Amino acid sequence: MSNFDDKNIDYKNSVLHVEGVELNKIAAEAGTPTYVYSNEIFAENIINIDQALRGAAHLVCYSVKVASNVGLLKKAAGLGAGADIVSGGELYRCRKAGIDPKKIVYSGVGKAAHEMAEALDAGILMFNVESAQELSLLAQVASDKGKVAQIAVRVNPDVDPQTHPYVATGLKESKFGVPAAEAMELYRIAKNTPSLKAIGLDCHIGSQLVSVAPFVAACERLKRLFLDLRSQGINLTYIDLGGGLGIRYNQEKPPTAKEYGEAVLNVLGDIDDLFLIVEPGRSVAGSAAVLLIKVLYNKRTDFKHFVVTDGAMNDLIRPCLYGSYHQIKTVNEKNQAPLTVDVVGPVCESGDFLAKDRPLAPVEPGEYLAVLNAGAYGMTMSSNYNSRTRPAEVLVEGDSFKLIKQRETYDNLILGEIF
Ligand code: LLP
Repeated sequence: MSNFDDKNIDYKNSVLHVEGVELNKIAAEAGTPTYVYSNEIFAENIINIDQALRGAAHLVCYSVKVASNVGLLKKAAGLGAGADIVSGGELYRCRKAGIDPKKIVYSGVGKAAHEMAEALDAGILMFNVESAQELSLLAQVASDKGKVAQIAVRVNPDVDPQTHPYVATGLKESKFGVPAAEAMELYRIAKNTPSLKAIGLDCHIGSQLVSVAPFVAACERLKRLFLDLRSQGINLTYIDLGGGLGIRYNQEKPPTAKEYGEAVLNVLGDIDDLFLIVEPGRSVAGSAAVLLIKVLYNKRTDFKHFVVTDGAMNDLIRPCLYGSYHQIKTVNEKNQAPLTVDVVGPVCESGDFLAKDRPLAPVEPGEYLAVLNAGAYGMTMSSNYNSRTRPAEVLVEGDSFKLIKQRETYDNLILGEIF
């Protein structure tokens, strides 16, 4: 669900609230820019996906790269979720959050030896392996430790997810996964390697998918391969479908968690002794947060009206990087006719915009704006470009809120620099 129509991010007495807390209050106490998360939306999104898959043995592995604050990961852990990680750093966060290592899957095309070692020491559920060389290194690292690495092979099902090219991962020209024929070979190698144990089959075809068709196509291909492998004596238990379920940023009409679950189980539900894993990220955190920013100036030229804010591309890079749309609302509800404006930040690049040619009610310096649906790939893709301190993060629960990440200081900016 998107927070377009979520009761948890809405105007009450003409002021935009996240759950029971007005955003002006958070801005006054925590400053801006700040990511403000609704615990209720975040939790509800996890629960909805979990419920949608209850027809099969399954595990929801929240994709940590999406919004990785330990405070949020703790909430996910509390709901019984596992995690999909792509680095040693994400593993570290999961451990801090108390996520059960036996519920962690490790994805990614470039795992380093030290990261494999850390994950083996932690005792994660499985490594989603993406190449023959990775498999061989993993076998070596595990054998050196006298351990057995449980693996899945990530196959590239060559399905077009019909999404932005930067986030499409299941096409045959992408760097991710291996073709089905090569997967067979990797399973044969694993079978003959004492430090490896193949337990699953994995894929992830892309992100922000707004129809079930590509998921269904991927499930059909995975199912064929899974049953083929079983018939050849390679008895796997897990199918990991990756993430990818989209959300509504603008006019999209993505499937609900329920529709997604039904479509997936419709294909995979009749496989004996199957354990299904999903790695949702955006559909969990995306609608759960706004980026709260402050208007600095109105700047009018002959061609444009710019609303210059203290939020910039370093805080939320999605509009600049993918041309993504994020709805922007004034925190104080307004009745005036909208102007057409570009909402831009202070960074020295023309690519530094949060919205272009957007209708927005007139605003004055000092007023607050909320950039909606900013919870996924917002804070985690932020940077210190232009030596800007990264945003604070706040978690709202009902009528109260707490800081879950302090705003960076100038000292944080030069941490580790030697001079
Ligand atoms: N699993 C794997 C292996 C992934 O690569 C990803 C995302 C996910 C799960 C989570 O996918 P989700 O449910 O969030 O679609 N930065 C881009 C999106 C990059 C997606 C990377 N992989 C954006 O802001 O749109």
